[in-house]
Amino acid sequence: MKRKVTKAVFPVAGLGTRFLPATKAIPKEIMTLVDRPLIQYAIDEARAAGIKEFIFVTSRGKSALEDYFDHAPELESSLRKKGKTELLETLKTTNMDSGAIAYIRQHKALGLGHAVWCARRLIAPNEPFAVMLPDDVIAGEKPCLQQMTEAYEETGGCMVAAMEVPKDKVKSYGVLDVSEDMGHMVKVRGMVEKPAPEDAPSNLAVIGRYILTPDVLSNLNKKKSGAGGEIQLTDAIAQEIREERGVYGFRFQGQRFDCGSKAGFLQATVAFGMSRDDLKDEFTQYLHEAVAMSKAAQ
Ligand code: G1P
Repeated sequence: MKRKVTKAVFPVAGLGTRFLPATKAIPKEIMTLVDRPLIQYAIDEARAAGIKEFIFVTSRGKSALEDYFDHAPELESSLRKKGKTELLETLKTTNMDSGAIAYIRQHKALGLGHAVWCARRLIAPNEPFAVMLPDDVIAGEKPCLQQMTEAYEETGGCMVAAMEVPKDKVKSYGVLDVSEDMGHMVKVRGMVEKPAPEDAPSNLAVIGRYILTPDVLSNLNKKKSGAGGEIQLTDAIAQEIREERGVYGFRFQGQRFDCGSKAGFLQATVAFGMSRDDLKDEFTQYLHEAVAMSKAAQ
């Protein structure tokens, strides 16, 4: 019997410099897509996949994140008095059970692998765990991590979300070398972090959802730096292949937005705005008008 995945690690220590000046005062993960912070999308996806414990790897200046998941007694009682039950329900989705959430600090920005390694003492031996990068927002009928935990029941080992990207974009991603292609799943024989297009083994890129075994944390003990001088999660997963333990890529169903970039964030805002029942009519009409106006001005 494979163990169920009930813990997830959220590396959220990044400075978010691409979104300055906004990120001078607010963590990137609190920036809102329509009316919910980026992190809430990841939490909802994790919960749908059966995650019960949430580990945040944070850094200085991220206290707004801790407040966000706390109860807000004054706000709640004021909404209750006014009979705003719907808003109260919305607020509830931001609360965590006592002890369900842990914050660990990454004291130095040494890379994604190092950030995940900072959570090592909160993961038991033999306990598989998920890693979710909240910058990657994935819209889909079935949440991406849930698709992965279901597939993982069959495979065990390590699993990474994967998606084909244009060849000239591989340098922004971890890239898979595939030994066997089963369609929605691939068996991986190598992984390279941010390769030059001419060195990339394929254009199948790793997207920010992982199911990992604690062996990956042991591999990270060596603190070996890789691409960009950083300690890379990709390298620690690739070592699992060398140890002859299974690593799989999972081609998820759904649309992924790179909310770590301004263009991706705007695209996500448009897509989520258009799919919301309370906004779609007004917003879609506005978009049509805006496009027509910009065409007319050309
Ligand atoms: C990280 C990982 C990379 C992965 C990417 C997905 O890179 O290191 O392997 O493909 O996330 O978004 P980053 O975007 O943090 O540079």
